[in-house]
Amino acid sequence: MLEQINFTTKNILEKTNHFKPEVGIILGTGLGGLVNEIHAEYIIPYEEIPNFPLSTVEGHSGKLIFGELGGKKVMAMQGRFHFYEGYDMHQITFPVRVMKALGIHTVCVSNASGGMNPNFEIGEIMIINDHINLFPTNPLIGKNMSELGPRFPDMSEAYDKKLIAKALEIAKTNNIKVSQGIYAGLTGPCFETPAEYSYIRRTGADAVGMSTVPEVIVAKHGSMRVFGISIITDLGVEGKIIEITHEEVQQVAAAAEPNMSFIVKEVIRSM
Ligand code: HPA
Repeated sequence: MLEQINFTTKNILEKTNHFKPEVGIILGTGLGGLVNEIHAEYIIPYEEIPNFPLSTVEGHSGKLIFGELGGKKVMAMQGRFHFYEGYDMHQITFPVRVMKALGIHTVCVSNASGGMNPNFEIGEIMIINDHINLFPTNPLIGKNMSELGPRFPDMSEAYDKKLIAKALEIAKTNNIKVSQGIYAGLTGPCFETPAEYSYIRRTGADAVGMSTVPEVIVAKHGSMRVFGISIITDLGVEGKIIEITHEEVQQVAAAAEPNMSFIVKEVIRSM
């Protein structure tokens, strides 16, 4: 894996004239709009990046964007890889390893999720303050490469408290309603049954989705700071559960996207 990371990193550095990003951004379903705010200097489609998997799901177009956002040099992933697409955990998290190798110190992740906290509303923004790994596996399983991080990484503050406080302050100043909560990540691709929402709620989670947890585990393994933000696109609350489609998830996410992008941009500016 080390050889692959180094090879890909070298290839990207060559293609970007040695652009050195400080902040990595992973954009979730319907949340790609943030890339329009980046003053892009280099754009590389995933298919031109050695060792990168190809994104298969609708609504994820698949490119790396290098440029400036909030006064910082960033690398954004438009389109992420999901476990339900059939990739293994190492493939899903490979780009995060490359982020670390490029010198990135902070990773911002976004996603769409189903809200189980009864106070949540559709379209609301939730700042992720912790997660629960409900995937049947973990991206760090296998021989540990100490060059990449410790065998038993600490997860006591997976989501950086200072960045959360910043985001809450930015939201308040700009009259954007946000809440905070725990994100449970599981495989998908089915949305949950009412019984499953109820079960996941009882684990302590406020929202549930099919991504993010693997990338955050690997970011923490590499001692990077993490900021996570989620758009509640549907509700897994008893009495409020209705049929949903991926298209509806994308539509709700797209509607909330400008506020989410604003918060991410300003959090990055504050770093
Ligand atoms: N469950 C899982 N993933 C999701 C949901 C959901 O309700 N909404 C958006 N992503």
